[in-house]
Amino acid sequence: MNIRLARVEDLPGMQGCNLQNLPENYTMKYYLYHILTWPQLSYVAEDEKGRIVGYILAKMEEDLAEDQEPHGHVTSISVLRSYRRLGLAKRLMVQSQESMATVFRASYVSLHVRKSNRAALSLYRDTLGFTVKDIEKKYYADGEDAYAMKLSLKDLVR
Ligand code: ACO
Repeated sequence: MNIRLARVEDLPGMQGCNLQNLPENYTMKYYLYHILTWPQLSYVAEDEKGRIVGYILAKMEEDLAEDQEPHGHVTSISVLRSYRRLGLAKRLMVQSQESMATVFRASYVSLHVRKSNRAALSLYRDTLGFTVKDIEKKYYADGEDAYAMKLSLKDLVR
């Protein structure tokens, strides 16, 4: 399985993957905004025939509070069901984190995850070393709370 930077022509495949895997969905315009504004931060996983089997959609945070340092944010990540537990999400996360640090000097990366999402929580906390910074009550449209998580990228900034 190959991991590479996402291109504009990948967006329908990424959106298809998102629709199959998550209730949080986005307009094509929002995908395009990510790819055109931060072309170094979103990646896809493709199979041997070039089909998109996973993606990470990521950006730099735009609305910084006065005390906040520049940081990256993972808008969405998912991997098709039959390609899970192969290390693809970990590789997608690590690639994007490295680019956030080296291209944009991001000091940390943030994300939101459902409190009930055990697979994603394990990926972020146990595999990648994220910590929970806050609980955002009723963050999701169906009323579920989110963990707001962070990982320092200071060791990656060169
Ligand atoms: N149960 C427990 N731990 C898990 C699970 C699981 N089902 N899946 C992954 N992990 C943990 C394990 O520690 C795993 O390491 P191991 O396989 O050596 O034990 C580690 O994460 C790395 O797993 P990967 O193989 O890299 O993860 P995968 O490619 O399977 O993708 C993902 C994980 C993205 C969470 C996938 O299950 C998925 O697409 N789920 C549906 C969509 C989703 O929930 N996306 C995240 C929403 S939050 C957001 O987008 C910011």
